[in-house]
Amino acid sequence: DQRLRAIDLSNFSITKTTTPKQLTANEKLIFGRFFTDHMLSLEWTAADGWLDPKITPYQNLSLDPATCVFHYAFEAFEGMKAYKDKTGQVRLFRPDMNMKRLNKSVARIALPTFEGEKVIELIKNFCRLEERFIPSQRGYSLYIRPNMIGTQKTLGVGPPGSALLYVIASPVGPYYPTGFKAISLEATTYAVRAWPGGVGASKLGANYAPCIVPQMQAATRGFQQNLWLFEDVDERTGEKEDFVTEVGTMNLFTAIVNKDGQKELMTAPLDGTILEGVVRDSILQLARERLVPEGWKVSEKKFHMREVADAAREGRLLEVFGSGTAAVVSPVRSISYKGELVNCGLREDQQVGPVTLRMKDWIEGIQYGEEDHPWSWKV
Ligand code: COI
Repeated sequence: DQRLRAIDLSNFSITKTTTPKQLTANEKLIFGRFFTDHMLSLEWTAADGWLDPKITPYQNLSLDPATCVFHYAFEAFEGMKAYKDKTGQVRLFRPDMNMKRLNKSVARIALPTFEGEKVIELIKNFCRLEERFIPSQRGYSLYIRPNMIGTQKTLGVGPPGSALLYVIASPVGPYYPTGFKAISLEATTYAVRAWPGGVGASKLGANYAPCIVPQMQAATRGFQQNLWLFEDVDERTGEKEDFVTEVGTMNLFTAIVNKDGQKELMTAPLDGTILEGVVRDSILQLARERLVPEGWKVSEKKFHMREVADAAREGRLLEVFGSGTAAVVSPVRSISYKGELVNCGLREDQQVGPVTLRMKDWIEGIQYGEEDHPWSWKV
């Protein structure tokens, strides 16, 4: 529901900063540390619906300590990017998917839904205003973070009577501090990220904070990220297995050769326990269009870590990569699982496998407007 008053684009106001920031050199960008000059905000109240959208100088929020977001985690967010192509044209990548997902996430936690196409119009205005912050070098972009919080001052547990949708932006390069290098994952067997009937498919901040301690523990052992598993019965064998779900910051793809010689690219299905990645969906569509004619099978299906480890031991694990807005397409070198280091098909001197590289080139080619494609929206 777009409760009560819809967003009114005709009353959109822009107040420009009087103290523009200095740009940061691309090589100095650390993911999500530097922000642009402005922010976009839309307030909502149960009594009046969506109030007039505004762009203001980037500034602190002032909220009462009893505001419900601080107590009961009424917060959902998105990650999207603006790219600059060779001609200087600014582009967004499938922003309709982000708006759809944010509406699903906020609806799950009793925050108000909104008209996605209107917020895309506002984000386009915001991007035009912040154009000087959008890097043009390939691999760099403006990371856009829409965020919605419940702002009602109350300790009562109930649907927030007011909310704030705001959008900030940060020029970024590669997500991992190691750059475009293959990363190593630790398959976590002592904690779970999400479960059937839970909120693992919603992009809620509350899904991220609990993943940090396992991430810190993995880091002490030299792994950049956790691979989240979910123990379940394998219907084919009746045995309990650790099914592969996702990495906390990206979805995961595995390319293997099956025992019958069939090459297969697979990723976990959207069963409510994994995030519905925009890049995940794009990779699946591109793989179906471009890899299937080359003899590949492309699957969204449940598969477990023992299958991946067996494939590696038998020389059938070709490549593993992660996908995400922040991570784009990130090659994986190894996965530690129950004391075994599963080698994901890369030679020691190799940072990326051929399928991962082609996929990254296809996705980036569209994002940076080198390939004309309906997923790339001109701003
Ligand atoms: C993204 O890929 O945009 C994400 O939201 C992942 C992470 C940075 C939280």
